[in-house]
Amino acid sequence: MEFDFIRSMAHNVLPTSRGRKDSRMPKPSPTEAHITHDPAYETVAADDFAAMVEVGRYGRRSDAFDGIIGATHDHFWDPYNPAYLDFTQGWNLDSEPLLPLERFPELNCAETERLDERTKIRLANQIQRWTLSNILHGEQGALSLSASLCDILLDPGAQEYAANQVREEARHVAAFGRYVHTRWGTPYPVGPVLGEFLTDIVLSPVVYKKLIGMQMLLEGLAMGAFANLHAHARDPLLKRLVQLVMTDEAFHHRFGKIWADRTIPRLTREEHEQVEDWTARVFEILLFNLSSMSQRAYVYEPFGLDVGRLRDSVRERFHGGRKNSLKEGTNVFRVLVKTLLKAGIVTDRTIHTYSAWVDTGELEAEGDTMIGDAIAADGIEYLRAINAKRRVIGQKVA
Ligand SMILES: [Fe+2]
Ligand SMILES: [Fe+2]
Repeated sequence: MEFDFIRSMAHNVLPTSRGRKDSRMPKPSPTEAHITHDPAYETVAADDFAAMVEVGRYGRRSDAFDGIIGATHDHFWDPYNPAYLDFTQGWNLDSEPLLPLERFPELNCAETERLDERTKIRLANQIQRWTLSNILHGEQGALSLSASLCDILLDPGAQEYAANQVREEARHVAAFGRYVHTRWGTPYPVGPVLGEFLTDIVLSPVVYKKLIGMQMLLEGLAMGAFANLHAHARDPLLKRLVQLVMTDEAFHHRFGKIWADRTIPRLTREEHEQVEDWTARVFEILLFNLSSMSQRAYVYEPFGLDVGRLRDSVRERFHGGRKNSLKEGTNVFRVLVKTLLKAGIVTDRTIHTYSAWVDTGELEAEGDTMIGDAIAADGIEYLRAINAKRRVIGQKVA
């Protein structure tokens, strides 16, 4: 996976002292305040239900999200309906890699050279199980975070948008959950860094952390990772599943952009620095730790591989001269960094954090189109064709 590659690259091009990144999430400062500059994002405490039934509130509805809410049914899909996804398509995990073996840095270094082809395939599929398990946990995080937004957002339009996202994230949990169950039975546990990050943003009462953390950072990473999976997955079921998820994620990403357009230009200098610094810090933590090999040492052990030796071997294999590969158009961090740049979150203060990994000058000069947009658009056309054939029989849809 691209994450692994970037991770191994990151260790090569950074001085050693920077290579051991602190994986702890930044803690909230005691003076941290809510940053709200648009009434559409006004919040109340999660237990303030009285504010929700205040009679004047219902009439104060922003129309900023109506376009996204109204488009919901265009991209309806159901992972438990074979019209959309055929889960009877089998896959032999012992003889067929879900992704080409070249995509796995661990399988292209001296430490694993001695493994025979079949063992390499089995290991590649276990690594993929780990990645897809963490995507599943990320989808659960997105579901829980959107649900937490429903409790605190006061604007009925913003709340309806968030409720709609809850429904779509639940569909993603169902889809990835079913895929992992079908191929392996059970998922692997959530990786420690992802688990801590999700806990922080789900439980945080601070809206900018929820929206930047989920809608920009994680959704941006997810769009990049899904675009890569769509390009390289050999399993047609996985390829289609990822595309259908992308049809929803493209809209979630847009919600984050609406927030940024209405908020970032109005921030005070102090608020901007607070948001910018938090974002850069979290970006580094995710870049260095999200999918590091040490997060999944137990995956390698049954294959007789020690994670420390394996990591050293990968570093050695990819040492030097490959930094530019991080700047390729398919880099999973590209969507994320482009989103942050276009949103105006990144300034000269922190651009160095990003410019080491992606060509920020090129990104700034590009239009607003994201790498996954075309795949999502094709997915929506596919869904429209299926949905047009759906017949309503009594109360049931066939
Ligand atoms: Fe999702
Ligand atoms: Fe999402």
